[in-house]
Amino acid sequence: MTARIVRPAIRKVTVLGHPVLRKVLRKLRPEEIRSEEMHRLIEEMAVTMDEYDGVGIAGNQVGEDLSVFVMGLPKGNKRHPDGINLTVVFNPVIKPVGDEFEEDWEGCLSVPELRGMVRRHKKLELSGSGLDGKPFKKIYEGFPARVVQHETDHLNGLVYLDRMDGLKTLAYMSEMGRRG
Ligand code: NI
Repeated sequence: MTARIVRPAIRKVTVLGHPVLRKVLRKLRPEEIRSEEMHRLIEEMAVTMDEYDGVGIAGNQVGEDLSVFVMGLPKGNKRHPDGINLTVVFNPVIKPVGDEFEEDWEGCLSVPELRGMVRRHKKLELSGSGLDGKPFKKIYEGFPARVVQHETDHLNGLVYLDRMDGLKTLAYMSEMGRRG
């Protein structure tokens, strides 16, 4: 017998113009969430996110009409030293907590090379299901809350450009780097 190790495939990331990025994605049933195929997809999403240096990736960004996102950032990141634990969320729903907002730069694997300033809720309660298909609720604040909002938007067919107060801050990363 030959042992065969199948590595998760790095998927092609869909970019703006692909219709799946503008779809409201299909909600998943617990038995679908627990399936081997789904766990395979999650592994592929995680390795794709790493490969493209993303902090989060949504189902439609790998071409799937499925309401799921993965997020994660290793500790020690220059801008966000606390990082974000690797998290998988199915069928996410967001409820803002309080009425504070924060503005910060966002980018997106599906909108390559660009950054823009986006106003987001500072704190929120995320409801969704985990890999075991069981529902959970969790409070997020600051940068992880921003990522949760960005990824949940994807599952509703929105990108960060739709959330900008106008496009005047939109900038190429290469040009931002030149100017520090
Ligand atoms: Ni994105």
